[in-house]
Amino acid sequence: MTEALIIDGVRSPRGRGKKEVGALSTIHPQRVLAQVLNGLKDKVGFDPTDVEDVVTGNNSNTGDHAHDIGRLATLDAGWPISTPGVTLNRFCGSGQQAVTFAAMGILAGHQDLVIGAGVESMSRPSPSNTDGFTANNAHLYEQYPLIPQGISADLIATLEGFSREDVDRYGVMSQERAEASIEEGRFKNSLVPIYHDDGQLALDHDEHPRPGTTLESLAGLNPSFEKMGAWVPEGRTRSADQICKDLYPQIDKVIHVHHAGNSSGVVDGASAILLASPDYASAHGLKPRARIVMTATAGTEPVIMLTAPGPAAEICLRKAGMKVDDIDLFEINEAFASVVLKFQKDLGVPDEKINVCGGAIALGHPIGATGPMLIQTVLDELERQDKSTALIAMCTGGGMGTATIIERV
Ligand SMILES: CC(C)(COP(=O)(O)OP(=O)(O)OC[C@H]1O[C@@H](n2cnc3c(N)ncnc32)[C@H](O)[C@@H]1OP(=O)(O)O)[C@@H](O)C(=O)NCCC(=O)NCCS
Repeated sequence: MTEALIIDGVRSPRGRGKKEVGALSTIHPQRVLAQVLNGLKDKVGFDPTDVEDVVTGNNSNTGDHAHDIGRLATLDAGWPISTPGVTLNRFCGSGQQAVTFAAMGILAGHQDLVIGAGVESMSRPSPSNTDGFTANNAHLYEQYPLIPQGISADLIATLEGFSREDVDRYGVMSQERAEASIEEGRFKNSLVPIYHDDGQLALDHDEHPRPGTTLESLAGLNPSFEKMGAWVPEGRTRSADQICKDLYPQIDKVIHVHHAGNSSGVVDGASAILLASPDYASAHGLKPRARIVMTATAGTEPVIMLTAPGPAAEICLRKAGMKVDDIDLFEINEAFASVVLKFQKDLGVPDEKINVCGGAIALGHPIGATGPMLIQTVLDELERQDKSTALIAMCTGGGMGTATIIERV
């Protein structure tokens, strides 16, 4: 069988996802992705005419993210009209899934040069549905009364016994690691600056981190999801907290521990990874950095929603014939601190192997764009530490997980 080789990847900086505050918030998401695609082209020097698809993850799919943002951004980038683009949605795992599908096209022998990309401008939120994740489907809601993710994260902490100090300690570690990585220039290899249409620089560094965060500074923050948890939406009979208690009767109440300092940051950004078959790479002088060893997806109970990274990682390891100890570095999306703490506890991964450059709590989680960003960050870090293998996993809406194992070549 052929291999799916990672040639290279780039990402935009993550801009704060607040309208008129974030440095990327005035730039159309198609433009942000288009600049990332051209940044990748300039870095690698490939011919976009040969790109057989730009598989793009996006979670919004409405408003400025509407239609097929993969194709629209490719056209906006000025790439040949013969280069197609497609957009997919697996909630937060969309971008990671895009890389997986790009790899699968190559592994199937159907394609030779494909981009796996992602984009999300969270400063331009989608029009919200009245009940969020079920998209107003009352029949589905009766079976699965899906609740906001922050409350699911608090439910995980309650069930697992993670205290407010545990999740705050994790939040501080994310900030400290991100601060050190930025100071040492560890993100530079994959970062491309983003410009306004008039050529003015918009952003060339991650905008979300708060260096100097301490346990004491986080202790002062109020839980973000407490009021939301107690609220009974119009037309409903139960609050989200009550739904949690009904489904998980072993808890007395949901203990709300997550806040702005231990939850992923709301940000704007885009990312892209170039994948090639070995034949194409050698014929065109492209030097691969890594190969995709295995990918997997998993589904778990959708109300608690955020528990599938562990099962996805376990499937991925099993199918690859590998064990946790065979992995040098883990990159587990910091959707919320409790998600990573649960992953670590269930799989037995030590602190020094996981999210060593900081993660989405410090840097932000631009939903559809995060997957390729995590792959790039951990690949840059594998090279810096001269190590070989990494496992990347994410939780997603609807109770799913995505996982990828990569190996340097
Ligand atoms: C938790 C959440 C609701 C907080 O939103 P927010 O209140 O708008 O968060 P902000 O980043 O603006 O921070 C609010 C305040 O908290 C404080 N704060 C945030 N981070 C801090 C830190 N590390 N140290 C100290 N104070 C901090 C600041 O006072 C800040 O206000 P300021 O920006 O005016 O200084 C939001 O980040 C969130 O929803 N995150 C999860 C996103 C998500 O669900 N993604 C999908 C996951 S699967």
